[in-house]
Amino acid sequence: MQIDIITLFPEMFDGPFGASIVRRAIDAGLIKIDIHNLRDWTHDGRRTVDDAPFGGGPGMILKPQPLFEAVDALRSDAAVTVLLTPNGELLKQPLVRELAAAEHLILICGHYEGVDERVADHLANKCISIGDYVLSGGELPAMVIADAIVRLLPGALGCADSTREEAHEGGLLEYPQYTRPAVYRGNPVPEIVRSGNHQQLERWKRRQALRRTADRRPDLMTAEAELELAWLELELARMGVEASG
Ligand code: ADE
Repeated sequence: MQIDIITLFPEMFDGPFGASIVRRAIDAGLIKIDIHNLRDWTHDGRRTVDDAPFGGGPGMILKPQPLFEAVDALRSDAAVTVLLTPNGELLKQPLVRELAAAEHLILICGHYEGVDERVADHLANKCISIGDYVLSGGELPAMVIADAIVRLLPGALGCADSTREEAHEGGLLEYPQYTRPAVYRGNPVPEIVRSGNHQQLERWKRRQALRRTADRRPDLMTAEAELELAWLELELARMGVEASG
């Protein structure tokens, strides 16, 4: 997979892509990530990328010309071009999976007060936001997208199963996990987790994932999930497993 990132601040990417899982994936040849300076596609001595908005208003707008020329230069037949913008479709795990299936991604980092709308309308295939808040540019969102994609690439994580049960993969938050010691600062690991009763433990994990989702992210709960949670609460109570485990 190839990711090209078009930005006004190439140096911002050195840290995040120079360490951890992304770095390992690059070193292993699972992904190639190239960072491009938008100013390389300007033609004036001052390397101008922005201009005042038509009709007035605060701030500057990224001009279409350097962005169109940058994408023209980088585009392949397989390329999916994405504009990072707070006005985009919200990034969730299914969209991350869709992006991870692409052979070639071109990520455009917006900046200043905005980007000329013709970029969204006639250059980008998708506009994506990473959350309902406004950042100072698309660089952090591009890093978030690259990181979320890389960990889905076969071979990027140590263990092939690591992404299977994690948060958001099944539309729910993840069940809680524990390691040694069994009691820390007076707080014990739930009994069920150390009980060795595999069948009860699987039900408990599922119930905890559903319970946590209902409490923290009720927007993710479906009618089926509510029913399943109610059934598991009854079932675990019948088996004598307490809510805390
Ligand atoms: N640029 C500024 N804020 C953003 C956001 N929330 N998502 C994507 N790009 C952005």
